[in-house]
Amino acid sequence: MGKDVIIACDFDSAEKTFAFLDKFTGRKPFVKIGMELYYAEGPSIVREIKKRGHKIFLDLKLHDIPNTVKKSMAVLSRLDVDMTNLHASGTVRMMEGALEGLTRPDGTRPLLIAVTQLTSTDQESMEKDLLIEKPIADVVMHYAHNAKVAGLDGVVCSPQEAGKVHERCGEGFLTVTPGVRFADGDIGDQKRVMTPAEAKKIGSDYIVVGRPITAAEDPVAAYERCVAEFCD
Ligand code: C5P
Repeated sequence: MGKDVIIACDFDSAEKTFAFLDKFTGRKPFVKIGMELYYAEGPSIVREIKKRGHKIFLDLKLHDIPNTVKKSMAVLSRLDVDMTNLHASGTVRMMEGALEGLTRPDGTRPLLIAVTQLTSTDQESMEKDLLIEKPIADVVMHYAHNAKVAGLDGVVCSPQEAGKVHERCGEGFLTVTPGVRFADGDIGDQKRVMTPAEAKKIGSDYIVVGRPITAAEDPVAAYERCVAEFCD
């Protein structure tokens, strides 16, 4: 599994997405389609981006009863995406169901990774809103362990957590890390950030980068800079 840079295509229309992707005339980047774009355009946007030769991480973060997630994953597997995800808090049984649903009749399937605790959740909101009183770092590691037990391929986590996840779940267990910023760039609303070079050093397998590329004056140059710092 090679290290790669995934561009978060957080746009609200196909038009804006293609205007952005048209700039990439050389190497076709791995792209992330999240809820905003998927809900705006539906499954056709996935097919169209795939047809253009991009790898796709479909970031829909499923969380429902195991049977519903299993059947929904079976539908998503037909879209031929390369990676998709769900919430680990949906339980080990839900994750096992998801994996079963995602596996195609020929035995192949997209990579399946779990969201542990969203980085927008802090200790206080976890205790007050969710009545979970353990330290958040322990909860993240426990959820990562559950994802591994269920047979998933890895987790989405902050770059700060990637090293510990590998220690607990093994080097082959993938860490997909958002919260990446250039050393000389704006951090925006992200709280805990790392540069692509630091994320590489700490062992992230994939970095997810949105605004540092999509809002750059020269998105292709910003992407190439990420690739140079993280992959090369
Ligand atoms: O623009 P930026 O680089 O902050 O985009 C990061 C992407 O990663 C966004 O699509 C965001 O939704 C996603 N993400 C995140 N933190 C998480 C999970 C996903 O920033 N914990």
